[in-house]
Amino acid sequence: MGMYIELDRQGEVPLYQQIRNFLKEQILGGSLPPGSRLPSTRSLARRLGVARITVQEAYDELISEGLLTAHVGRGTFVLGPDGRSPAPSSPPEPPWEVSPSRLSTRAILRDMLRMAASRDILSFAAGVPAPEFFPVEGLRRAINRVLRREGVSALQYDVPEGLLLLRQAISRHLSEMGIAAAPEAILNTSGTQQAIDLVARTLVEPGDAVVLESPTYIGAIDVFEARGAKILAVPVDAEGMRVEALKPLLVRYRPRLIYTIPTFHNPSGSSMSLERRRQLLALAREYAVPILEDDAYSELYYRESPPPPLRALDTSGHVIYLGGFSKTLFAGLRFGYMVVPEGLRERLTYAKQTADLHTSSLIQWAVLEFIRREGIHTHLRRIRAACLARRDAMARSMEVHFPPGVQWALPQGGLYFWVRLPREVTAFEVFFQGLARGVAVAPGPAFFPDRSGEEYIRLNFSLHPPERIEEGIRKLGETVGFLLERARRARLRRQRVPAALL
Ligand SMILES: Cc1ncc(COP(=O)(O)O)c(C=O)c1O
Repeated sequence: MGMYIELDRQGEVPLYQQIRNFLKEQILGGSLPPGSRLPSTRSLARRLGVARITVQEAYDELISEGLLTAHVGRGTFVLGPDGRSPAPSSPPEPPWEVSPSRLSTRAILRDMLRMAASRDILSFAAGVPAPEFFPVEGLRRAINRVLRREGVSALQYDVPEGLLLLRQAISRHLSEMGIAAAPEAILNTSGTQQAIDLVARTLVEPGDAVVLESPTYIGAIDVFEARGAKILAVPVDAEGMRVEALKPLLVRYRPRLIYTIPTFHNPSGSSMSLERRRQLLALAREYAVPILEDDAYSELYYRESPPPPLRALDTSGHVIYLGGFSKTLFAGLRFGYMVVPEGLRERLTYAKQTADLHTSSLIQWAVLEFIRREGIHTHLRRIRAACLARRDAMARSMEVHFPPGVQWALPQGGLYFWVRLPREVTAFEVFFQGLARGVAVAPGPAFFPDRSGEEYIRLNFSLHPPERIEEGIRKLGETVGFLLERARRARLRRQRVPAALL
């Protein structure tokens, strides 16, 4: 195993934990794929110049986190995310250079999506809306009508900016949210995710600085990392992005873009106050930086409607606005749209054409027909009521089943609880131990550009009915209780081990 572990022998972090952290990073980052065989405790201890018990403790922790498995006489192996041990192999030579942080963020996102789809796992990990509220019948009627009435034009190529009639309908929909956008300002995309990618390709060159919130949406981290951007992270609190931390970054790094989710932020659930929205817009104007406003969740509010979108308050053309129906109507249709300031329209339209010519004609016609004939307001009311009931069911279950020291705030919209764990327990431990009990969470570090945030997990509350939510939260409560007890025992054990052995 040609790996180099740098140990800080004077530091505060115990040596066994440094070894554990290093190996965990390699495993989650993919450098030690499932099936890899680890060196024996004796040989690793010799190479690192530490006591064998130190390496043994590191391995033991990784075993109880579900990352490793030990076979007497054969050795210690890396487990797959499903807890199975594939045929042992040696780690392949990495064919290209990728920083560990990039790899692991992607690996975690992939695992989350895979687990949410697995029937055996009760998953709170993914950001998916309640499937039983997808308007299947309404969409079937819409597609049938479109095929009958429009015939080939629903199957023909379109212009890159998308079906004009649909952009007109979206323009009317946006005006209800206080956004004045002519159809010519609207560009239809294949989901909001594609819109983020198109903006990054248009405005950001490798090495350019970009401001992201910390934490933020994983898909946005992926886009900007893939683009080779230098990511500047601004913390988020209960009032959204901490705008006062932004100004020094604008002065020093002159970023090309500020990406924000001001309303029902993913993953923290907070919304930016009106005051901060105004401050952010003023800074964008002063430093001439465009804002990419991702408004994926604002229509999912549970009590009162949120503050107006940044785009509705923008008087100087600094906001690129992203919207869609993924979280409310039909996530898998892959439809979204952006409202583009005039100076960027040509470049973004060209980027869309380069990416995929245009969004599927049939899908655009179907969305248009759905909006026209079925309407979205009745549906939105239903889905808000269902999600509110599920949010409250999760809050009640957490009150009952979570041990003291677990903290969360009640989200006023969106799909997630952002949960802070007790100090002794980490997100990855909850992730793997939870999985062993049949329940999945999204680990906090997936949402932080620098992969900090081990004290957080994100729980989606929209996917399961209340009884399943109760069952999953009970299992998670047991998981956290088990980890607290294990941490307590480990502390006691360490106190008993003579210092000379460590
Ligand atoms: C903040 C945010 N933006 C964008 C997306 C992706 O949305 P779409 O399905 O429109 O691509 C998500 C999905 O989780 C999200 O949370």
